[in-house]
Amino acid sequence: MNNAYQNWFLGAVLAAAASGAWAAGDAAAGKGKTAMCQGCHGIPGWKTAFPEVYHVPKLGGQHAAYIVKALQAYKSGERSHPSMQGIAAGLSDQDMADLAAYYAGAASK
Ligand code: HEC
Repeated sequence: MNNAYQNWFLGAVLAAAASGAWAAGDAAAGKGKTAMCQGCHGIPGWKTAFPEVYHVPKLGGQHAAYIVKALQAYKSGERSHPSMQGIAAGLSDQDMADLAAYYAGAASK
């Protein structure tokens, strides 16, 4: 396990504990939830080394609806990737909407 994994795991636990508020696609709330995504998606050109070397897609500037759809597909198992399925399984619909709102408005994250 490397530090990125430890950081996102800690972030996931903290974000899960903190997510109680309800608002439709709140970018400010989404920003607070990116702690668990930044370990992988915040690093330009980052590639995961497990289970194989894999390019991590850039999220900033992508369409919010696309991001939500991708996260739901990971959660349902329709789209499969070990890291993202694990992450998406812990996200509520509200978390997904907030994260999508934030990333859609971020030029390059
Ligand atoms: C452990 C590393 C890791 C973490 C942490 C992580 N991701 Fe990912 N993410 C990936 C990888 C690798 C892919 C590409 C998987 C694939 O091709 O299906 C991906 C794909 C995605 C995609 C699809 C992008 C596309 O272009 O289709 C979305 C959306 C996404 N992640 C959102 C998030 C969000 C939101 C978080 C935080 C809640 C997060 N990810 C946390 C590694 C990570």
